[in-house]
Amino acid sequence: MPDPITPVLTRRWASPTSWTLETYTETGGYRAIREALGRDPDQLIQLVKDSGLRGRGGAGFPTGLKWSFIPQGPTGAGAKPKYLVINADEGEPGTCKDIPTMMADPHSLVEGCIITSYAIRANFCAIYVRGEALHPIRRMRHAVEEAYRAGYLGRDILGTGFDLDIVVHAGAGAYICGEETALLDSLEGRRGQPRLKPPFPATSGLYASPTVVNNVETIASVPDIVLGGSEWFRSMGTERSPGPKIYSLSGHVEKPGQYEAPLGTTLRQLLELAGGMKDGIPLKFWTPGGSSTPLFTAEHLDVPLDFEGAAAAGSMLGTTAVQIFNETVSVPWAVMKWTEFYKHESCGKCTPCREGTYWLIQILERMLHHQGTEADVETMLDICDNILGRSFCALGDGATSPITSAIKYFRQEFLDLCTAQPSVAHPDQLAELTGAPA
Ligand SMILES: Cc1cc2nc3c(=O)[nH]c(=O)nc-3n(C[C@H](O)[C@H](O)[C@H](O)COP(=O)(O)O)c2cc1C
Ligand code: SF4
Repeated sequence: MPDPITPVLTRRWASPTSWTLETYTETGGYRAIREALGRDPDQLIQLVKDSGLRGRGGAGFPTGLKWSFIPQGPTGAGAKPKYLVINADEGEPGTCKDIPTMMADPHSLVEGCIITSYAIRANFCAIYVRGEALHPIRRMRHAVEEAYRAGYLGRDILGTGFDLDIVVHAGAGAYICGEETALLDSLEGRRGQPRLKPPFPATSGLYASPTVVNNVETIASVPDIVLGGSEWFRSMGTERSPGPKIYSLSGHVEKPGQYEAPLGTTLRQLLELAGGMKDGIPLKFWTPGGSSTPLFTAEHLDVPLDFEGAAAAGSMLGTTAVQIFNETVSVPWAVMKWTEFYKHESCGKCTPCREGTYWLIQILERMLHHQGTEADVETMLDICDNILGRSFCALGDGATSPITSAIKYFRQEFLDLCTAQPSVAHPDQLAELTGAPA
């Protein structure tokens, strides 16, 4: 049994009133802003750089470095207002760490927003929450109100002269609105579609002003870094991926849920924490970080789940949404379900993703109905090749991951669907496929 670390990010979650201002302050909350608002903003940026904190929204970009891109100064982009935007859209299949964080410990995010806004010299912060997530929206709004009443938000916070307003914005419910530039368009009241980059949000973000977009878990990590220091933060995790992380385990596991552990923890260790595979049925495949990250198999149980370890083994850490499937699950079926999601969520702006996901789902459905041919496997790989790296945003790239990795490890399962093809399709299947009466 691995030693679970003393929880950091989730330490308040078990408290019966963990979300209240009272519990938060009783457990050390809002001490970090007193410390931070007394420092020079650049010192805070340096602290976060030194801590090695990397974005928890999927790409793992160094957080302090991102903050340092915000131009300062009296002219040009530096003269515009600066904004902090929190990405709480959490739409990646399997990902479910930000909503529990906002439900159980919303003040850690509010305090992180205050420190980050101060560091990047922003006086306005928007928290963009997935529109369907009504409970977290209410809870975040309540926490923000509590913080205003306590003098942690508004004018002249704690007598330091620093002003900050936070708005909790309910998104419109689209996966693409988690992509940072589509999110900004959505926040401005437009249809959420990705923007061309450059310019990057750091110079031209919300209302064309310098903007930092960070994930919930990233910013909720900041107060503890201020209190604990960069060395303490680096004492957890690995050299290039330091700190604690919330791993979301779902699927065929005895105790699905959120497991906080240092970055670099393996699936074997996480399974021990979560009571093992459900009913003891062996593991077949899993995603290390959501459906946009290439699949792993039982061969990968000992891969260190940090940014480098997952990449070296041919996948990505993504959002550490660990979806676990046992031997009873058909890989082509699971891949079809994910591909349906991408086809549905494709925003339609660029041809490779819009058309490619449509064609992929046509082929996968045909195969699942035993109407495919062996050539379909190569056709799918060819379509993926035309999407990957040729799409306008990373949604298109992500859509190819389940397919190419599934064919890499489970090609025979796709071929078996073709060879097991009945000589005459069942009349119901034909009716479904052709629309003709059975
Ligand atoms: C299709 C798509 C969906 C995304 N959804 C989310 C999301 O729900 N939450 C999130 O934090 N990042 C999401 N991202 C990543 C963001 O674009 C961005 O990289 C992230 O918010 C940056 O925060 P971080 O530096 O703290 O990780 C998504 C990216 C893409 C391409
Ligand atoms: S890759 Fe897909 S989601 Fe992204 S811009 Fe193109 S069509 Fe839209």
